[in-house]
Amino acid sequence: STPLRLGIAGLGTVGIGVVKIIQTHADLISARCGREVRITAVCARDRTRNRDADLSHYAWEDCAPDLARRDDVDLFLELIGGEEGIAREAIEVALAHGKDVVTANKALLAVHGQQLAESAEAAGRVIRFEAAVAGGIPVIKTLTESLAGNSIKRVMGVMNGTCNYILTRMQSAGLPYDTVFEEARRLGYLEADPTLDVGGIDAGHKLALLAAIAFGTQPAFDAVEIEGIERVSIDDIHRAADMGYRIKLLGVAQSTGRGLEQRMSPCLVPADSPLGQLEGGTNMVVIEGDAVGQIVLRGAGAGEGPTASAVMSDVIEIARGVRLPTFGQPASALARPTPARTAVP
Ligand code: NDP
Ligand code: HSE
Repeated sequence: STPLRLGIAGLGTVGIGVVKIIQTHADLISARCGREVRITAVCARDRTRNRDADLSHYAWEDCAPDLARRDDVDLFLELIGGEEGIAREAIEVALAHGKDVVTANKALLAVHGQQLAESAEAAGRVIRFEAAVAGGIPVIKTLTESLAGNSIKRVMGVMNGTCNYILTRMQSAGLPYDTVFEEARRLGYLEADPTLDVGGIDAGHKLALLAAIAFGTQPAFDAVEIEGIERVSIDDIHRAADMGYRIKLLGVAQSTGRGLEQRMSPCLVPADSPLGQLEGGTNMVVIEGDAVGQIVLRGAGAGEGPTASAVMSDVIEIARGVRLPTFGQPASALARPTPARTAVP
């Protein structure tokens, strides 16, 4: 059988995690796919950088779009990041050259996902993005595949590990926001631009993607109402605790009579509830379907292993010949959501 040949653009936390899984589990992956999954070429900014994996058997490209157009690449992995720029360009080049795409880039898809889904469809290619939402938690496949027989009523959850870490530490250690923010930076939780985390933007990107799949609409980040955690004080945390609550950066997407509500904001949740007890960098997504009832998914929302695990689920899906539309339905069938604006608490 023909091998599936990968080109990996981005050799940071996620890209190197993917290389390690493919190197460690080559036989297991081949057995599960019925074909070999092989890396042929890779790309990052700095060729001389010491990386925690042996890359000597792969061709090197300095430019991601050049990697995306290589004849010996069938599947292009965009693991660079960024809403605009090289990541978007490289994905467009890959689709135009007949390659399927796997990405972890929530920022890009939340803003340009509809256009990219249309390009993929026109080219007869697929884009998959399991790692873009809640890291290692298989929430995209749960919604797109496992719950495809349900009308989804609501999707909600904690989708940014940095914010959950900061809020949990403020509560448990009684430390002020600035001190805990610096701790989170030292632990490597923060995005390159930390305002994406604490401003609720990263979590808003994720919610826009979940809402698109759950409610059959175009991903529309500009329709998500967002408030970050920067103004949550230690006093707020203590007052909430006195009343038996925790403050969480909670995302909610639900269909209302007035349209689709998409909201990411600090909320009070009961301290003894699963969401209230969610600690550290963990994520939790709660899905309510008319047939299945409530599903709760919990796990690591970031980090090398969990995120690479999610990327590999997409790679293996494509290697097996499964070809799903980007947001679960043909892009042409998706309408822009009608926002149901709410008052942010
Ligand atoms: P990193 O910053 O660790 O790695 C980014 C990689 O992209 C680096 O290897 C860098 O090269 C490379 N790169 C940057 N600019 C260019 C360029 N112009 N051309 C080629 N390569 C370039 O990011 P992560 O691995 O953490 O994240 C990758 C993606 O995964 C992002 O979209 C992120 O949002 C997403 N994601 C990350 C998670 C995580 O836990 N880290 C969780 C879920 C999603 P060099 O190494 O030479 O600097
Ligand atoms: N900065 C993100 C978080 C990484 O803290 O959840 C995973 O998307």
